[in-house]
Amino acid sequence: MSELRLTTTKDGSHSLLNTDLNEHYHSQHGALQESIHVFLRSAFDHLQKPSVSILEYGFGTGLNALLTLQEAQKTHKKVHYTSLEARPLNTEIIDQLNYADQAGIDPRYFADLHQAKWNELVAITPYFSLEKRKQRFEDYMAEANTYDLIYFDAFAPRYHPEAWSREVLHQCYEALKPEGIWVSYCAQGAVRRTLMSVGFTVEKIPGPPGKREMLRGIKT
Ligand SMILES: C[S@@+](CC[C@H](N)C(=O)[O-])C[C@H]1O[C@@H](n2cnc3c(N)ncnc32)[C@H](O)[C@@H]1O
Repeated sequence: MSELRLTTTKDGSHSLLNTDLNEHYHSQHGALQESIHVFLRSAFDHLQKPSVSILEYGFGTGLNALLTLQEAQKTHKKVHYTSLEARPLNTEIIDQLNYADQAGIDPRYFADLHQAKWNELVAITPYFSLEKRKQRFEDYMAEANTYDLIYFDAFAPRYHPEAWSREVLHQCYEALKPEGIWVSYCAQGAVRRTLMSVGFTVEKIPGPPGKREMLRGIKT
């Protein structure tokens, strides 16, 4: 198992360094800022629906889930959040993460997200249900036209090229409902072209601090 090291990013929020890949889980310019910008402001906030189903590549630290839960509480949107994780973190690491404090949310919610059973649908709050699945994203056979939103939070293409393959991005396209949104921090031209080749309409939009651009695809 690869070693994980706790790091502190520029906005004061933690991240992890996977020492095998030498790749961080989040932007070193600010993990919290990145997650808010990429997944909340650039995607979740664009869905004007009372109930939203989300699929995530990589549950990891649970940061995106925590911020989405917080937003669901604020906006009274009902969220069904499915997150796939091939290598869950151990509690020793989870207990050190400062996200509840940094995001200004009751730490009970962060604990509940991590303690939720794998492979079961768990109601964390009246507005947020979580289904964590301990499996590779590539092996998840989602029903077609199921999700409103995909948070594509895999390691970067240069470290984990298989995650960004045509097959996986096609799988994302199929899993989304019409007009569904695929979003990622990544801005690579090759990824943009692959997204287009599987049917997405792709926009390059402003990225989080430290990154000029990122990608958002709409299933059209
Ligand atoms: C860039 S990190 C982001 C994780 C998480 N969203 C977060 O904010 O902490 C990528 C995550 O994808 C997970 N992962 C790697 N390969 C995977 C696979 N084939 N299927 C699902 N998850 C995978 C890693 O273990 C890691 O947790």
